[in-house]
Amino acid sequence: MADITFPDRPLRRAFIAGVGASIPERILTNHDLEQMVETSDEWITERTGIKERRIARDDQPTSDLAAEAATNALQEAGCRPQDLDLIICATISGDVQLPATACYVQDVIGATAPAFDISAACTGFIYGLAIGSQFIQTGACNNVLVIGAEKLSAFTDWTDRATCVLFGDGAGAALLRPCPPDRGLLEFELGTDGKGAELLIVTAGGSRCPTTHATVDAGGQYIRMGGREVFKFAAKALADSSLSVLQKAGVAPSDVALVIPHQANQRITEAATKRLGLPPERVWSNIARYGNTSSASIPIALREALDAGRIQDGDYVVLTGFGGGLTWGACLIKWGP
Ligand code: ACO
Repeated sequence: MADITFPDRPLRRAFIAGVGASIPERILTNHDLEQMVETSDEWITERTGIKERRIARDDQPTSDLAAEAATNALQEAGCRPQDLDLIICATISGDVQLPATACYVQDVIGATAPAFDISAACTGFIYGLAIGSQFIQTGACNNVLVIGAEKLSAFTDWTDRATCVLFGDGAGAALLRPCPPDRGLLEFELGTDGKGAELLIVTAGGSRCPTTHATVDAGGQYIRMGGREVFKFAAKALADSSLSVLQKAGVAPSDVALVIPHQANQRITEAATKRLGLPPERVWSNIARYGNTSSASIPIALREALDAGRIQDGDYVVLTGFGGGLTWGACLIKWGP
């Protein structure tokens, strides 16, 4: 077999040309939750940093939020839906079991590109960026849409105080386009530990345990979580994956303009910030307003950071996440084309 050699550096990379978000209007505060389960604003604020979260309308599936975020991202990038080459939607709360939510999004936004979902829980957007950027890097695609979208409220047991205070709905999207090799998405780190699969799980409705009256009665359609165990792994996963991409690129943590971590718990973010040796103002946090929106949290936060003028051309930005699977991941971006 002939030797196949690859160039040390790709000829082109992917950069983020547009970012969009979709935030449902309805706000559910900690005080509202006090009326629903035995909890308190004080407990939720102290243990998680969350004050309120957004809840999508009953008639608003995940694809609605995804399509709005996608349209906003395309508008910013000046890309027509029909010019898309690929649509990747990261979600764990898709419209239906079959087909992929990305198919609905394709139809709603008026695109014709191949479209598929990926399931990597809260790390889904990082996984999506990693996959999408490979299509750009190889030259197979020029316009790749990566979406993180969730309607977690549809999979939340509103009688379980251990989980219902944590989650929120929303969507974010990024359009990837080619750029020179010294810009854009420079490095990725992806990880999975399937031994932790049971720690964050919807037990029923799949081939392992198809839906029956009994599974519904037992609440098997809702997200269950071993919160303490996930907590222990989370801060280390966020920090270590960030340090790994920085090391691969030869960039010092002190040279990073902004870290955007998955928004799961303010205490997790603070522990990761400490581990990274960064001042708090260089690590984005919006957990107080949205709770944990799983795969949507990073692109929503990215949109906010851009709006706040916190990311400039040429800045190093780290996106980092962890979640069910267990999964984790990070990417290092040199911002701009
Ligand atoms: N209100 C009041 N009390 C509560 C609540 C609540 N909402 N929830 C739990 N408690 C109680 C518990 O019953 C327990 O009481 P006990 O001591 O009498 O048994 C006590 O508070 C402490 O419970 P813990 O679970 O130990 O609380 P902890 O400090 O670990 O905080 C939390 C729980 C917030 C869930 C935390 O563990 C956490 O954030 N874990 C990580 C979750 C996460 O990041 N998930 C991300 C992935 S999500 C995805 O992939 C979809």
